[in-house]
Amino acid sequence: MPASLLAPFRLRDVEFRNRLGLPPMSQYSAVPGEHAATSWHLHHYATRALGVGTVIVEATAISREALVTPHDLGIWTDDQQDSLAAVAEVISDGGAVPALQLSHGGRKGSRTRPWDGDRWLRPDEGGWEVIGPSPIPFASGYPVPRPAGRRDIDRVLYDFQRAARRAAAAGFRMLELHAGHGRLLHSFLSPVANQRSDHYGASFDNRARLLLETVSAVRGAWPHRFPLAVRLSCDDYEPGGWTLPDTLRLAPLLARAGVDLIDCTSGGIRRPQTRRPAPGYQVQYAAAVRKTGVATAAVGLINDMRHAGTVIDAGHADLVLMGRRLLVDPALPLRAVGAEDAGLVPRQYQRALQTVPASDF
Ligand code: FNR
Repeated sequence: MPASLLAPFRLRDVEFRNRLGLPPMSQYSAVPGEHAATSWHLHHYATRALGVGTVIVEATAISREALVTPHDLGIWTDDQQDSLAAVAEVISDGGAVPALQLSHGGRKGSRTRPWDGDRWLRPDEGGWEVIGPSPIPFASGYPVPRPAGRRDIDRVLYDFQRAARRAAAAGFRMLELHAGHGRLLHSFLSPVANQRSDHYGASFDNRARLLLETVSAVRGAWPHRFPLAVRLSCDDYEPGGWTLPDTLRLAPLLARAGVDLIDCTSGGIRRPQTRRPAPGYQVQYAAAVRKTGVATAAVGLINDMRHAGTVIDAGHADLVLMGRRLLVDPALPLRAVGAEDAGLVPRQYQRALQTVPASDF
């Protein structure tokens, strides 16, 4: 593994053994109505924990209304919390920091999962009402969201806070708030979705209010010794939308509110999106945000160790997240280990690999 990737780093009291991680990736594999982790989640996350510094468990709904699909994970009941504790444990066993992404789907909710057609789930099919900043749908074929009122907003803050408490009790050691890809927190930030004229809309400060209030609510419930991350879509790629300068203005406000890491993604405020992803296309955002003084994660088509190493070497990010490549190639980090990082190989495999370097497989 490139030396730069191997350097451990620390956020608050949590030490990450290296700078490679798995980004949150929904598995859509929970049982509808239960929303607890299943044996698939245990298998998937245990496998991907080997050799990386952190595994961020997929978007997990803070309440029933916060689901995107009926197969999403949730963290509002004791059973869900217990099932996620087992996931956190297998990730820790693999040597990685277990992290959990908390989500409210907002106007992207009430959908079937991708392999069930990714279509609107109508109320008579078990669908639910979705909320958003304004009655502007995400795309054609999506429901018109009901504009969130005071009570909805209070409920969202309460649900995020309660979910944070449950995540700590389940054994997670980093939390990430999903404020990207058009979900509720992102939709309040972006003028494309937020056309309110109250306290939560119009000006930059008002559009940032829900996210900043969520951060304070969560920070109050999430242990001080553990880091808090926020995933931001740093650019909407839309005329009149959220831009990189907006992100650079928001980053110090988030840091002051107790955010330790900004996970820099982009796009997703509406469909269709014109921007075509290219290798490393979002690294520029991680680099720009990092210059404001907050730690960043870079993600998006960083598909090999060499590329990941150059992102860290160049000082563009503190952490590189590798998603789809680790879906098909979960052993990549182990195959990349050399003599200097042999400790990344699980104790159970070390003796077996002493005679044959892991990189030969
Ligand atoms: C994702 N992504 C994603 N993002 C997020 O913030 N929460 C999530 O739950 C998901 N779910 C998800 C599922 C699947 C199947 C994919 C492929 C992607 C986006 C993901 O975290 C990552 O940003 C992108 O996949 C880009 O990184 P890679 O895959 O190019 O390394």
